Amino acid sequence: MHSELRDRATQILVQNDRGGYTVPTARLYPYQWNWDSAFAALGFSEFDRDRAWRELETLFEGQWADGMVPHIIFRRDDPDYFPGPAIWQSGTTPPSSGHSQPPVVASIVRHLMETGGPEDQERAKLLFPRIFAWHNWFHAKRDPDGKGVVGIVHPWESGRDNCPDWDIGLNRIEVPADLERYERRDTDSVDPAERPTSSEYDRYLTILKFGRECQWDQEKIARVGPFFMADPGIQFILLRADRDLSHLAELFGFVEQREQIRRWIERSVQGCETYWNEAAGAYCARDLRTGEFSNAMTNISMLAFYAGAGSATQRIRLIDHARDILDQCQYGFPSWDPRDDKFESKRYWRGPVWAMANYMIVQGLTDCGEFALAERIKTDTLKLIEKSGFCEYFDPMTGDGHGGTDFTWTAAIYLVWSRATPSSRAA
Ligand code: GLC
Repeated sequence: MHSELRDRATQILVQNDRGGYTVPTARLYPYQWNWDSAFAALGFSEFDRDRAWRELETLFEGQWADGMVPHIIFRRDDPDYFPGPAIWQSGTTPPSSGHSQPPVVASIVRHLMETGGPEDQERAKLLFPRIFAWHNWFHAKRDPDGKGVVGIVHPWESGRDNCPDWDIGLNRIEVPADLERYERRDTDSVDPAERPTSSEYDRYLTILKFGRECQWDQEKIARVGPFFMADPGIQFILLRADRDLSHLAELFGFVEQREQIRRWIERSVQGCETYWNEAAGAYCARDLRTGEFSNAMTNISMLAFYAGAGSATQRIRLIDHARDILDQCQYGFPSWDPRDDKFESKRYWRGPVWAMANYMIVQGLTDCGEFALAERIKTDTLKLIEKSGFCEYFDPMTGDGHGGTDFTWTAAIYLVWSRATPSSRAA
């Protein structure tokens, strides 16, 4: 079973390859997505290193002049997806969306270098200035006052589209009467009960409209746009990525950039305190316009370990909290606390388990010596895939798979983890 599944995972990556870039899954997501591509590169590195680098290089073909790497790159118009390039109107070549997504690339590049040879070093060195420009963009445009707190201007920027974290910011948005009529395409291929609601979609498009109408003036969008929230996911992933980028800068002898990265890290470490919600005993999202906190722990709260953030006391609380949450589930780690009434075990980011989130959680826990917890989450992930296949996400209570099938990042994580523990997972 183990080697059959590895073959299947390899096939999925190959079948989702559109020639230099990979789609997350056919139909539901027919373009190149930012962090999906980073995880695709991780998966490709298991059997085709050249292709792994190509994935990252094509992603940077979509980089904007200001350094931003957009969350979707539209290389050709595909009627299967809404909202497509005509709605975003990025004015770029290739066309793209107008905001970013979690910057995992630097960490994946470090992984490629550490598992590779001189050619990997060369390709990493060529990519370095582009990654640096992207991180610089996050620190400048998403933290305009330099507080060490990197915000998101759209729930899609977090990569956790409909997590209850964003309800606070979304509920404050008034949908304008002149919002264009639109037809969703996501619910053609996935049960609407597993997707964001239409009221959420109206608000997603209201934010998009604001960006389009100010021609993607990122400063304006962050300062006065309809939505600006602090996302622990972006904060922790960027902090980890900055640390990994600093390591690369040192290796390549990029002294000035290394000094700049050091300043980013210092500021971000302090900024992490903004996310600590004492009442919830976790790092939580927060509305940057009102200060209001989201009140439950998510899978992404666990990335504090991945980022190397938090005091010893905060980490102990997180671990205890994580154990309590896992006691409620058959499979961890859920994207929302099952004890909270907003939890929905099948609805996208309001409860389900995501393999690539687990991958980052496990890396962080392992780095911090929390081996038992790391092992539990890793084993759960492999069991989920063995039980339900390479689905987009999984129900933490039943283990059933949901969303898109033959999903790129689920296949990628399986490839990496099934190699690491072949005997323990053999059928
Ligand atoms: C959804 C997910 C996002 C992902 C995209 C493509 O929008 O929330 O994280 O990048 O699908 O898989």
